Amino acid sequence: MYMSTDEIRRAFLAFFESKGHQIVPSSSLVPANDPTLLFTNAGMNQFKDTFLGLEKRSYTRATTAQRCVRAGGKHNDLENVGFTARHHTFFEMLGNFSFGDYFKQDAIKYAWEFLTDVLQLPQDRLLVTVYETDDEAFDIWNKEVGIPADRIIRIGDKKGGKAYESDNFWQMGDTGPCGPCTEIFYDHGEHIWGGRPGTPEEDGDRFIEIWNNVFMQFNRQADGTMEPLPKPSVDTGMGIERISAIMQGVHSNYEIDIFQTLIKEAAAVIGHDDLSNQSLRVVADHIRSCAFLIADGVMPSNEGRGYVLRRIIRRAVRHGNKLGAKGAFFYKLVGPLAEVMGTAGEELNKQQEMVEKVLKIEEENFGRTLDRGMTILAEALDSLDGKVLDGETVFKLYDTYGFPADLTNDVARERGFTIDEEGFNDAMEAQRQRAREAGQFGVDYNDAIKVDADTEFCGYSSTEGESTVVALYREGEQVDTVNAGENVLVVLDNTPFYAESGGQCGDTGVMQADGVLLNVTDTQKFGAAIGHYGVMSEGSLNVGDKVAAKVDAKRREAISLNHSATHLLHAALRQLLGEHVTQKGSLVKPEGLRFDFSHLESVKPEQLREVERLVNEQIRRNHAINTDLMDIESAKQKGAMALFGEKYDDEVRVLSMGDFSTELCGGIHAKNTGDIGLFKIVSEGGIAAGIRRIEAVTGEAAIDALHAQEALLTETAGLVKSDAASVASKVSALVAHSKQLEKEIQQLKDKLAAQESAGLINQAKDINGVKVLIAKLDGADNKGLRGMVDEMKNQLGSGIVVLGNVSDDKVGLIAGVTKDLIGKVKAGDLINMVAQQVGGKGGGRPDMAQAGGTDAAALPAALESVTPWLAEKL
Ligand code: ALA
Repeated sequence: MYMSTDEIRRAFLAFFESKGHQIVPSSSLVPANDPTLLFTNAGMNQFKDTFLGLEKRSYTRATTAQRCVRAGGKHNDLENVGFTARHHTFFEMLGNFSFGDYFKQDAIKYAWEFLTDVLQLPQDRLLVTVYETDDEAFDIWNKEVGIPADRIIRIGDKKGGKAYESDNFWQMGDTGPCGPCTEIFYDHGEHIWGGRPGTPEEDGDRFIEIWNNVFMQFNRQADGTMEPLPKPSVDTGMGIERISAIMQGVHSNYEIDIFQTLIKEAAAVIGHDDLSNQSLRVVADHIRSCAFLIADGVMPSNEGRGYVLRRIIRRAVRHGNKLGAKGAFFYKLVGPLAEVMGTAGEELNKQQEMVEKVLKIEEENFGRTLDRGMTILAEALDSLDGKVLDGETVFKLYDTYGFPADLTNDVARERGFTIDEEGFNDAMEAQRQRAREAGQFGVDYNDAIKVDADTEFCGYSSTEGESTVVALYREGEQVDTVNAGENVLVVLDNTPFYAESGGQCGDTGVMQADGVLLNVTDTQKFGAAIGHYGVMSEGSLNVGDKVAAKVDAKRREAISLNHSATHLLHAALRQLLGEHVTQKGSLVKPEGLRFDFSHLESVKPEQLREVERLVNEQIRRNHAINTDLMDIESAKQKGAMALFGEKYDDEVRVLSMGDFSTELCGGIHAKNTGDIGLFKIVSEGGIAAGIRRIEAVTGEAAIDALHAQEALLTETAGLVKSDAASVASKVSALVAHSKQLEKEIQQLKDKLAAQESAGLINQAKDINGVKVLIAKLDGADNKGLRGMVDEMKNQLGSGIVVLGNVSDDKVGLIAGVTKDLIGKVKAGDLINMVAQQVGGKGGGRPDMAQAGGTDAAALPAALESVTPWLAEKL
């Protein structure tokens, strides 16, 4: 029975819905709030906390078609893509989940029913594996489902591996929910090479795992211990591409409907017609991960998720190039992809234009260095003695030509070489070290100081507190006492001083006791401790002393206004420019704020004005700025914006301003948006590909900024003898007037020059029967000289003209020779001879040549020399 991929997806979800499962949409490829995971790599990721019992949902059974990426991290398939029948960077996982509801028995029965009843797969083509010691699963398969024992294979831990390292024990990552599993395999038939699971030939393509049913029972801890989950649960995953291959009667995933379409489209945009070429498969695979990653908010960059994306894009571009692609082609596949993905393509559909733009920019950037890099790589491989390309060359290709190491490896592998990965990593590390050294100014206290203390922060609601000194440092050394005049770092048991984090700068202020004064110049975090940098102004301070800690409240207030305004700005940008806008960096200081965000083009002046208008409108609404403490899941449900890759505590602070902005934030804020007073953008610009930066001011600083502009306007108005209201028309009239004057001056100059040249003509002398005019001008316009010489040549009819002009201490030289004489004298030679004497060099046509020089004092003598020089030639 043939089924399209989209039909299978629908059938699966409908089947489990009929078994009481809630259909839950696929989550983003960027795991929300899970720093342990690079990309969503399994259907269960979005339910991780539900399995762990940390999050309650309104249902105990769920089913999804989850988009997954396995490139980088624990489950990485990148290098195999294109070379095997069933590895992908991107795939969809169909899954059903039980959160403490049903367990092994129902999971197995549902899976069997779906495969044999709904999809009607022949039972004798299926075989299963169970974890070696899982007798319960074995018996369910054998006794209840009726699978003969010889087709149930027990798989144990890997030889020499650690406990639970088994194909039949599934773990999400190094930590997190895990448990034994049972896998269902499909036998593609004897004509394909490969052995049953557990045999040495298992990696062949005959027996393909199609569905993994995991019996979630443990939460693996970082130290390897297995903590039982609150309730036994079920997590299953079936790669949709594999089951499609079976339902469509093909063996390779690349032959299923989705890939056939994509491969044809790829061939068309590249201009290649051998559809069986492996590079087309690579391109068809890679467009899926790249397009969906970008749609889910990842931008190509040089680190983390962005770098994995960049690597995949570059690998695709290289393969397209290999097939002869001319110019950017990859981005053209986004449209066909969105279409071919059916119900799973909706998210991409919405963002097609943005995704295309990102890909196109990235392709074009890489395209500029690709050819050159490929030539260098080919030469390096040609001249290689052994079979391993050295790490330095791999690094050079990376550093100069943007070749990720796995791309170089890919090319090397095609020619039978490997690369020295370790050497490459060493070279990378050496570069990082150089960068670190270059970036280090003075002592880096953060590196030097390890503080073993816990400081309670009590500054959310006040700027003053009574504290005890728990540790003291002087120049990086821990000490018991510090004295007047010394630069110190003080750690307190509790403090109202905010330590720099989340973009908000550290507080300043004072610490006081009887006869003791410390000026705090900055506050930083040291793990759980908060350290205050400062200068001891008076007295001494000892560990154990009590001090009054006072934050500079005015400065703090300015900071808090800027911080609250940053949230409003973030929300306004998303509302006006789109959901792709995400925070990429932020700096909040008393003077103003800086906000970096992802966006592909400059923000137009009218958009900036609209952002300002929107933010100021929210300020006027004077929303109370509320902070609620809650667990992360409730925060997400409230729609709080969290930053990718940030690690949040179990209990998070959710900051909301009306329903305009809800964000997770540990920083300090105003009480009401009205406190901000006024928000004014002062600049907008690009700082990296796809990243923009806005700088803005608030409160008094915004008023100051407006005053400064006003002062500028008043001053300008004064200069042009006008008032602010009519300064623009006045300036524009002045500009027009001055243009008119320039024109008139030029006309006068031309007239003067004409008169002068008429006068000069009379000075022409005779050298061997040729009329020669040599003259020195002062302050003539160098641009006008050419016209003068033409004029003089006309008047002479036949003759030679040499003019030297000094204007602004610069020498201008020009020579003209009438056509009948250029056989004897070339203007270029003549001018060169003169120019050399005034520190210049010149040249030009035989009938007209110009030059410049710097030595004005030498000009008279240089012009003198023309007569004897010509006398020789004429
Ligand atoms: N989470 C399981 C897997 O990815 C189902 O195989």
